[in-house]
Amino acid sequence: MSAKVVIGAQWGDEGKGKIIDILAQQSEVVVRSQGGNNAGHTVEADGVEYKLHLTPSGILGKNTLCIIGTGVVLDPGVLLEELDMLTEKGVCTDNLKIDYRAHIIMPYHIVLDGLMEEARGKGDIGTTKKGIGPCYMDKAERIGIRLCDLLDRDLFIQRAKENTGIKNQLITKVYGKEPVNPDDFIDTYLGYADRLRKYAADTTVLLYNAIKADKKVLFEGAQGTLLDLDIGTYPYVTSSHPISGGVCVGTGIGPTLIDECIGVMKAYTTRVGKGPFPTELFDETGDTIRNVGREFGTTTGRPRRCGWFDAVIGRFGVRTSGLTGIALNKLDTLTGLPVVKICTGYQKGDEVVYDFPASLTELAKCKPIYEEMPGWTEDITGVRRYEDLPDRVKNYIERIEALCGCRVCMVGVGPGRDQNIER
Ligand code: GDP
Ligand code: IMO
Ligand code: MG
Repeated sequence: MSAKVVIGAQWGDEGKGKIIDILAQQSEVVVRSQGGNNAGHTVEADGVEYKLHLTPSGILGKNTLCIIGTGVVLDPGVLLEELDMLTEKGVCTDNLKIDYRAHIIMPYHIVLDGLMEEARGKGDIGTTKKGIGPCYMDKAERIGIRLCDLLDRDLFIQRAKENTGIKNQLITKVYGKEPVNPDDFIDTYLGYADRLRKYAADTTVLLYNAIKADKKVLFEGAQGTLLDLDIGTYPYVTSSHPISGGVCVGTGIGPTLIDECIGVMKAYTTRVGKGPFPTELFDETGDTIRNVGREFGTTTGRPRRCGWFDAVIGRFGVRTSGLTGIALNKLDTLTGLPVVKICTGYQKGDEVVYDFPASLTELAKCKPIYEEMPGWTEDITGVRRYEDLPDRVKNYIERIEALCGCRVCMVGVGPGRDQNIER
């Protein structure tokens, strides 16, 4: 049995797409279990850059079965555009399967995401405005429309009209905006249904059988640990479960079927959107990391907030997902900095905090405690063996490893598929 989970262990954008693409070379099945097109996974393969939002990053592998699981929220128009883009670039997309149970993002979800953010004013979450939260809200309220419902023409028309009616009450009476007309989108969605029909399947069965047949299965996380709805920096989170436990809920397989879990981290920290960020840098070093690391959102283009590596967060990721290994990306971005800092704990009054706090009020009282290490100037982008890395880089990696309590098994020295050191 070989089922491996790859999750983001910070606030998303850790380079999961690249790691999945690398591991997918030895995998037969790649599965997305949560989130939607709020995700943006960049893969650079053979000099071509792909930005994937919904399609599992394993799609670039010729014979890889790619699954969009039950827990994903699916914007059908976005998925079809992405599939067209891949086809244009010569990538075969026939190996994609989407679970019947995946919930569909409807136009009113996107409208409501925008209106809810606007109404939050200064307290906004900084969502991607892709309708993710409102779609998961409908799922929890038990009025959501699933792929199997979209494929059932009469049922879809009825449900789409009913739901638009409910949402229009909110849109017009609470937010004072123009109602959504279901006739404006029903035919378009029925057109999507025609195109998506061939991909629809009960993927819980496919997946179970693949694991039982000893196929190599890879679960591709979206977002990151601190964006998790339960254990993240609530309410500045997404509406799904990016931690490893989310994989079981979002694919319909049991935890006993998973045997490895890799947490992807950056050698520093970034966050896009609002919410607390203890090690955030507001100085030139932060700007340097942003520019050198090209830290601008894949989905929204927003500049990412940048800061030092936070080992409190690293340990939190190791603990809450039961990580068996860390893939540490973007070491090359730190090249040239005179010193590199790692946050080892938080000072809160007289107390030193080692575990990431639940309360944002408590978190706001926390000041990072830093350990400084000398930086390095060598170009490491061409290094392919761990032992060939400069000592200062190795010291930095090994300090992160010791502080997080988990082995660093992969080291990223560039965005390319080959710019990775397996350890
Ligand atoms: P994801 O959402 O976790 O898949 O990450 P994103 O794709 O949103 O952002 C990560 C960015 O870093 C992408 O532009 C990647 O191409 C890039 N990247 C990944 N690993 C490395 C690395 O080791 N070095 C550098 N310089 N860039 C990397
Ligand atoms: P990948 O998979 C980084 C953030 C948004 C916002 C919050 C809620 O590329 O790592 P949402 O639209 O999900 O309701 O927004 O979550 N967010 C991400 N940040 N990477 C992502 O995905 C993200 N997906 C959502 O910026 O703060
Ligand atoms: Mg991303």
